[in-house]
Amino acid sequence: MKTTVISSEIQQLETYSKQGDSYTDNNGRYGWRNPIRTDTGSLLTGLVISTAPKHILEIGTGHGLSTLYLASGLEVPYAATIDSIEFDPGVAASTQARMNDCKAPVTVHTGDALDVIAQLEGYFDLVFLDAQKNMYLSHLLALMARNLIGAGTVILADNVVDRQVECQSFLDWFVDEGINHEIIPTECGLLVARL
Ligand SMILES: C[S@@+](CC[C@H](N)C(=O)[O-])C[C@H]1O[C@@H](n2cnc3c(N)ncnc32)[C@H](O)[C@@H]1O
Repeated sequence: MKTTVISSEIQQLETYSKQGDSYTDNNGRYGWRNPIRTDTGSLLTGLVISTAPKHILEIGTGHGLSTLYLASGLEVPYAATIDSIEFDPGVAASTQARMNDCKAPVTVHTGDALDVIAQLEGYFDLVFLDAQKNMYLSHLLALMARNLIGAGTVILADNVVDRQVECQSFLDWFVDEGINHEIIPTECGLLVARL
């Protein structure tokens, strides 16, 4: 549910530029910390409301705009949790503080997604991918290899249209595996699938 404090934090973050700050990862790969577009945010909230997941995993926390849209779909009092992964320690710490201020049930894990996935426990019924686009498939396969996701898990991935080239191997995987999926024509393109 969009609590008053989450609503006002979303409004605040929505005033920031959609062209986020830049970062370089441990392997020297360059990226932009672009927050999700407003249409995608509303869709994330709607998908959480309609699928009622108990355990959500987000890869690519950034400043937490998408995290708050995901949290907005959860029932209050919270019976569900969100784990989110961010490799920049400063960004992870400030976003964790933001989530705490909003009383959102979010744990931000600091580290490279593949390293954090290797340590995670539990089972996720909804995953939102929004870190490096050319790593989407690696992140998905790493989650599957550890049985952190499986049959029934909802997979959401941003930027599959505006950055399609980087996402191509990921998109091909859904076709090759015969997994029902849809690309929603949001501003950046959101893949929605169910394993
Ligand atoms: C597109 S931004 C996320 C925006 C955020 N989802 C939002 O809507 O506000 C991608 C984020 O993922 C982080 N990131 C990129 N590659 C990562 C990796 N391999 N492991 C963990 N975090 C990563 C970046 O530092 C950046 O903050």
